[in-house]
Amino acid sequence: MGQRIEIRRAAHEDAQAMADYTAALVAEKLDTILLEKAYSREEEERVLAERAAVGGVFLLAMDAGRAVGMCDIQRGTRIGNRHAGSLGLGVLATYRGQGIGRRLMEAAIAEAKGWDGFCRIELGVTPWNAPAIALYESLGFKLEGVKVQGINLRGRPEDDLIMALTWQPGVKPL
Ligand SMILES: CC(C)(COP(=O)(O)OP(=O)(O)OC[C@H]1O[C@@H](n2cnc3c(N)ncnc32)[C@H](O)[C@@H]1OP(=O)(O)O)[C@@H](O)C(=O)NCCC(=O)NCCS
Repeated sequence: MGQRIEIRRAAHEDAQAMADYTAALVAEKLDTILLEKAYSREEEERVLAERAAVGGVFLLAMDAGRAVGMCDIQRGTRIGNRHAGSLGLGVLATYRGQGIGRRLMEAAIAEAKGWDGFCRIELGVTPWNAPAIALYESLGFKLEGVKVQGINLRGRPEDDLIMALTWQPGVKPL
């Protein structure tokens, strides 16, 4: 079923679809992501413009004009951290389990592996987010550390995990 979903880059014209997607994700009241409020179309336009200026990738999973998933890699902006970026990922509840998250991540990683000198994608994930951890591990992400009491999504500070996918700069594995 997920195969009819188109994975493509976000464009300026997608800002309203992105705002609707974010609102739907916020409404789920997830205990796995730091997302408290929806963004307006204007805010999404600003995010896209800022991201375009610094590089990185912003992908959408589209179902007939509706954004149902998103994956972005925000690249470091300084000489000292441009080789690395942080990844965000989400798929709307009714679209999960259809391979969309995997397709989004594979496309984002493939893109990032083409960036000159780039060699690290990192992310934070809560220990109770089993689907996400299984996906990240299957794509080669390794657990790097635990941020003790790093996140408060269930009413109290709890440990958060740091995972990363790394490769030798200039050498493209996979
Ligand atoms: C994490 C998330 C993006 C996965 O997206 P998805 O489209 O459902 O994932 P896929 O269908 O592509 O599944 C990919 C893999 O995830 C794992 N997975 C998916 N659903 C799972 C479940 N219910 N239990 C365990 N593992 C699961 C499997 O390893 C699966 O691999 P497979 O392709 O061999 O089956 C989605 O669950 C989500 O949006 N969750 C809420 C937001 C969130 O937590 N984002 C991540 C923040 S770190």
